[in-house]
Order: sequence, then C-alpha cells, then structure tokens
Amino acid sequence: MFWLILFSSVFVFGLAILAKTFASKTAKLDGRHVVITGGSSGIGKSMAIQAAQMGASVTIMARNKEKLDEARTEIQGHLKANMKVETISVDLSTSYDAVKSAMQQAEGKCGPVFMLVNSAGSSVSEAFVDLKPADFPKMMEMNYYSAVYATKAVVDSMVGQQAGRIPKETVLISETAGLFKADEVARTILTDSLHGKFMSYVGLDGWMLASITAGMSQASSLVEVITQVLLMGILRLVGLFYLSSFDKIVLRCKQEKDAGKQKSS
Ligand SMILES: NC(=O)c1ccc[n+]([C@@H]2O[C@H](COP(=O)([O-])OP(=O)(O)OC[C@H]3O[C@@H](n4cnc5c(N)ncnc54)[C@H](OP(=O)(O)O)[C@@H]3O)[C@@H](O)[C@H]2O)c1
Repeated sequence: MFWLILFSSVFVFGLAILAKTFASKTAKLDGRHVVITGGSSGIGKSMAIQAAQMGASVTIMARNKEKLDEARTEIQGHLKANMKVETISVDLSTSYDAVKSAMQQAEGKCGPVFMLVNSAGSSVSEAFVDLKPADFPKMMEMNYYSAVYATKAVVDSMVGQQAGRIPKETVLISETAGLFKADEVARTILTDSLHGKFMSYVGLDGWMLASITAGMSQASSLVEVITQVLLMGILRLVGLFYLSSFDKIVLRCKQEKDAGKQKSS
C-alpha cells in the first residue's frame, strides 16, 4: 500500500512538472500595435478586425489604396477607445528598402510592433502542367519575399522589446483540409499565437497534418505531446489512405479527360 501511494504521488508530481514545462503564457493585445500584411482582404482583414476587438492598434499593409481605405472604415468600427487603424500602401514583394520604410512609418504612427501577421500573398490556381515558368518566381515573390522582408524589417525592434510574436501563420492551413471561413482561420491564428502555440491548424485534417509533421517543432501543451507521441504511427497510416484517395482522384480526372478527348476526335 505504501509503495502504491508513493508511486502515485511521484507520478502525479511528475505529471504536474511536465504540464508546467509545456504550459505557455497567454499574451494580451490591449494597447499593443499589430501589423498585418495583406490586411485589406480575406484572412488578413479578419485578423485586423479581431485584433482591434482585442484592444490593439492596427496597421494594415497591401498595394491597392481603395481596398485599404474600405478595410480601414470597416476596422474602425471595432476599435477600442484611444486605439487607431493605419493603412500603408506598399508592394511587399519587390524591395526590402520599401518594406523597411513602411514598417518604420507604421512604428512612427502606432509605436513598436508587438505582433506581425504575414497574410499578404496569393497563388496562381492552375493545374501544375498549365502553369507557366514565369508563374513560379511570381509566386515566390508574392508569398516568400513579402513574408521574409516584413519579418526582417520588424525583427530587430522586436528583439529589442523582447516581446514580439510572429505567428507561424503558414503551418496553420493545409490545402487538403479544404477551405475555411477567413474569420475562423483568423481567430485560430490569433488565439494560438497569443497562447504561444507554435503550430496552428483548423479542422480535423489540419490537426492530423500538424500532429504528423510535429517532428522537431516546439510543444505547447502536455496533451499535445501525449497525442503526438501516441498517434504519430497510426496517423502515418491514415496519411497513406489520404494519399491513395488523392491518387484515385487524379486517375479519375485523367480518365475523364481522356474520354472527353476521344469523343471530340
Ligand atoms: N483563404 C484560404 O483558405 C487560404 C488557404 C491556404 C493558403 N492561403 C494563403 O493565405 C494568404 C491570405 O489568403 P486570403 O484568402 O486572405 O487572400 P486574399 O483575400 O486574396 O488577400 C490577400 C492580401 O494580400 C495582399 N497582397 C497580395 N500581394 C501583395 C503584395 N505583393 N504586396 C502587398 N500586399 C499584397 C492583397 O492586397 P493587394 O492585392 O491590394 O496588394 C490582399 O490584402 C495567401 O497567401 C493565400 O495563398 C489562404
């Protein structure tokens, strides 16, 4: 009996230490400055609205001035007292100097950047075979350069503040998980980021992909660690079923295309 009580106490104590190790602190946005690239539309605009509702001042960056102005009017309705929304029209993908200058302008108006959300970008939605070679550098510029330029431009001042957060907004959405409402994606990214969660996901497929690809990423809760350790093997098996169903879809489409060609010839 004595040993059972001792073992149970050590086990519970060990669990408590582990839970504390993996627990993350929740940050607050009250009075902070959040910069959102691509904040004039879609996920970025939803995040701007939700950051404003949480008490932040918001700067949104994108190219089209009219869309920025429309978004500003919408975001203004959600601001808390003494907070503001600024817009900066800039192409984030072509020149680092232009992005750096935009960030300095934003910090001049609303103070040091507490959080940067990289949501600017788009993709050319064509089948791979139909893409033109020129589409690849274009997509790299729009999605990769816009994110690294903006991150580089704020990271020095964030290190100085020791308080910044750059959500790894990229890990959060998998195309295989289908499309989700911008509001839902924005809420998840923002909340996870404030909780110090390294990976965000939406939906069951997103959870599965995040768990199976956890690898060397940081863990943000004990539950997350336990599910990843226990389920990674079985999720690999589920992943193989997904791949096989994707193969079947590709094959079916090819057969339909071939049948269409035969009819027309
Ligand atoms: N929605 C989804 O379900 C989903 C799923 C997977 C991935 N994503 C990715 O998540 C990101 C945001 O998606 P979304 O649906 O919110 O797209 P969206 O509604 O088209 O918004 C894109 C935003 O980025 C801005 N932008 C694009 N290129 C820019 C540039 N070179 N410089 C500055 N701003 C630029 C756009 O404004 P201007 O055109 O005026 O510059 C706009 O504000 C995209 O990269 C998208 O590929 C979205």
